[in-house]
Amino acid sequence: MTKIIAMAGKGGTGKTTLSALLIKYLTEKNLTPVLAVDADSNANLNELLNLEVGLTIGQIRKELKGDLPPNMTRDQYMEMKVHQALIEDKGFDLMAMGQPDGPGCYCAANQHLAMTMEHLASNYKYIIVDNEAGMEHLSRMNMRVIDHLIVTSDPSARGILTARRIAELTGPLGIEVKHKCLIVNRVPNPTSDELLAKIEETVTECDLPLGGLIHSSDKLINQEITGASYLEMANNEPVIKEAFGIFDSFIGND
Ligand SMILES: Nc1ncnc2c1ncn2[C@@H]1O[C@H](COP(=O)(O)OP(=O)(O)OP(=O)(O)O)[C@@H](O)[C@H]1O
Ligand SMILES: [Mg+2]
Repeated sequence: MTKIIAMAGKGGTGKTTLSALLIKYLTEKNLTPVLAVDADSNANLNELLNLEVGLTIGQIRKELKGDLPPNMTRDQYMEMKVHQALIEDKGFDLMAMGQPDGPGCYCAANQHLAMTMEHLASNYKYIIVDNEAGMEHLSRMNMRVIDHLIVTSDPSARGILTARRIAELTGPLGIEVKHKCLIVNRVPNPTSDELLAKIEETVTECDLPLGGLIHSSDKLINQEITGASYLEMANNEPVIKEAFGIFDSFIGND
């Protein structure tokens, strides 16, 4: 059975960073094949993996409105194009959603996309969806059940309360979430006892179980600046150990 892990959280709190680290985790543990979906209209997960995005799903959706090659149904055409849009790497494929529909949504195209996604999804052990702050792409791709919703937050009480509101957005979208957890990211190092107490107090109020804390890491920033793939970060880096420890705690039970 394919498991779906979706990222959510306010802008800039670490969704894409954690998506990249999760790909590293799953591929190194041989929990493969993995499909990584970059659902940010301004695709950037590929940059952390040092990969180039070609065709996006948004572009395919547009093409579907025009003339198709003869002797091909829309579903066949969509399926062929989606396969072209997959960027294949070791243990995982990456797919970029690209721009959403403009005004005058072509709903039939979305239906074809949803069907193709369902077909495609069954080939993978895990699907990771790196979202923008909203999660509309999930329903567009017909993902009705999320196994793990990871909500990222900065280390402030207000940030954590925002994370809770974001986690609740899945309800109106009609998405069932089996497990959810909060990751508080970019926690200053060393962490003051006051901050830790505040984080714990807010988490308790939140009905959002704490997956763990990740400290601020110069190494991550450096990796981003040099453009080296996050997959190549050393496993003894503190930030990798922290992230893997958190992933162990929920993926270990799958
Ligand atoms: N633990 C960390 N230590 C240091 N820098 C971090 C950490 N986590 C994330 N960052 C940096 O913070 C910035 C935002 O992170 P990221 O792009 O992952 O957030 P995001 O939630 O995906 O943002 P967006 O909403 O724009 O997609 C990046 O420059 C990233 O390198
Ligand atoms: Mg992002």
